[in-house]
Amino acid sequence: MRKKYLHITTFGCQMNVHDSEQMAVLLAEQGYEQTEDSTKADCILINTCSIREKAEQKAFSELGRLMKLKEKNPDLIVGFAGCLAQHLGARVHSRVRNVDLVFGTHNIHRLPEMMEAVQKERKPVTEVGFSSSLHSLGIFAPPRDGAISAFVSIMQGCDNYCAYCVVPYLRGPEKSREPEDIVGEIEKLAGCGIREVTLLGQNVNSYGKKSGRGDDFVSLLKKINEIEGIERIRFTTSHPKDLSNELIGCFGSLRKLCRHIHLPVQSGSNRILKRMNRGYTAEEYLEKTARLRRVCPEISITSDVIVGFPGETRKDYQETIDMMEKIRFDSVFSFKYSERKGTAAGALSGKVPEAEKRQRLKELQALQDRHTQEKNTSLEGSVQEVLVEGPSRNSRQDMTGRTSCWKIVNFEGRPELIGRTVPVRISRGYLHSLRGKQISS
Ligand code: SAH
Ligand code: SF4
Ligand code: F3S
Repeated sequence: MRKKYLHITTFGCQMNVHDSEQMAVLLAEQGYEQTEDSTKADCILINTCSIREKAEQKAFSELGRLMKLKEKNPDLIVGFAGCLAQHLGARVHSRVRNVDLVFGTHNIHRLPEMMEAVQKERKPVTEVGFSSSLHSLGIFAPPRDGAISAFVSIMQGCDNYCAYCVVPYLRGPEKSREPEDIVGEIEKLAGCGIREVTLLGQNVNSYGKKSGRGDDFVSLLKKINEIEGIERIRFTTSHPKDLSNELIGCFGSLRKLCRHIHLPVQSGSNRILKRMNRGYTAEEYLEKTARLRRVCPEISITSDVIVGFPGETRKDYQETIDMMEKIRFDSVFSFKYSERKGTAAGALSGKVPEAEKRQRLKELQALQDRHTQEKNTSLEGSVQEVLVEGPSRNSRQDMTGRTSCWKIVNFEGRPELIGRTVPVRISRGYLHSLRGKQISS
């Protein structure tokens, strides 16, 4: 029998990347092998994001490109998945003809049945219903050969309703997985050679709170810290309002917890934070980051910032800049505010002109680049423990890996090092990576 090939294009966050891994596993059971080459594929899935308008445009332009392949090969199955699919549902079919499959963020586990229906009945299938179960979250994705790092979803959805954000509407209400399921999955991953896990959730700090079982994120971390074979634990994303002192304390006490936290601040202006419905003040944020650094002086702190939220004046923007000067993040993902239909911010007055947003973003990114460079330069001469992930993209003599603080390090080394944690003396700090030399341990 001829081999069947699957091509997946993924947009959006790490959660979407993990969802794509799960889709690939479900279709592997139906005989599909993954390919990078879309022209060779029998089935193509686009896993979409809807967080900003640009993300939606990208998804549709990719869909347009792929539909041309379908014109040449009518047997090709094209599926549209993820957050934008969740948002549009059957409207995808009226916007683009001949899409076979549209499915949402809670329907991934149904992919095998949906594929069968498409193949048998040859008519479009749409499944975007929300479910109160966590079927899609628990699909076990065995790691690729040689992988040392894996994602593990610990919760679904979000209840925070930040005024600008569509995620609660597209991922549904917050619901945590049972700790036993999570621990079981990580034990299995460790058995497959995984050394590092990244726990995923829109707000991992509120893990377990709604369950009433009394298990919270800190107790989950402690359990994972005991799993043999796992050397590093990371998590994303943390919400500043729910960052407890106990969790901060873990950065000093839990050996396997990496010394990095991604803690999106969004704005340094209290007026804007309030309009965003973020639930903390700039002072509280500063206090929490100071506490993190007291507990763990070398911790790297990264963040997300939005510029041009409705009503953001030059003064508000300057307060964000002042906060960045005070905190000196290791890196920041920064975005121009993008209005999303149905969110509370859509109805707010004080829209900031596009050119002004662009200017603010440019200034902010230039400042952050200076800070990132400063941080990376300050690591020159230090010895960092690097978990080696594989050969570097740029040179065949080099290996690449990450420090506990999430910095990429390239150094001369042999493939036998993959999966091992080795000490590397940093010789040079660049903007996006570090260079170093392995020292004997
Ligand atoms: N749950 C996470 C991540 C949410 S999405 C959190 O709370 O941090 C990732 C980032 O996208 C957000 O932190 C925010 O900075 C940005 N973002 C979300 N909605 C946006 C919008 N409408 N316009 C611009 N940026 C947005
Ligand atoms: Fe969106 Fe806020 Fe939820 Fe993050 S916490 S996903 S920004 S609503
Ligand atoms: Fe995008 Fe959905 Fe993630 S909107 S950022 S893919 S949760």
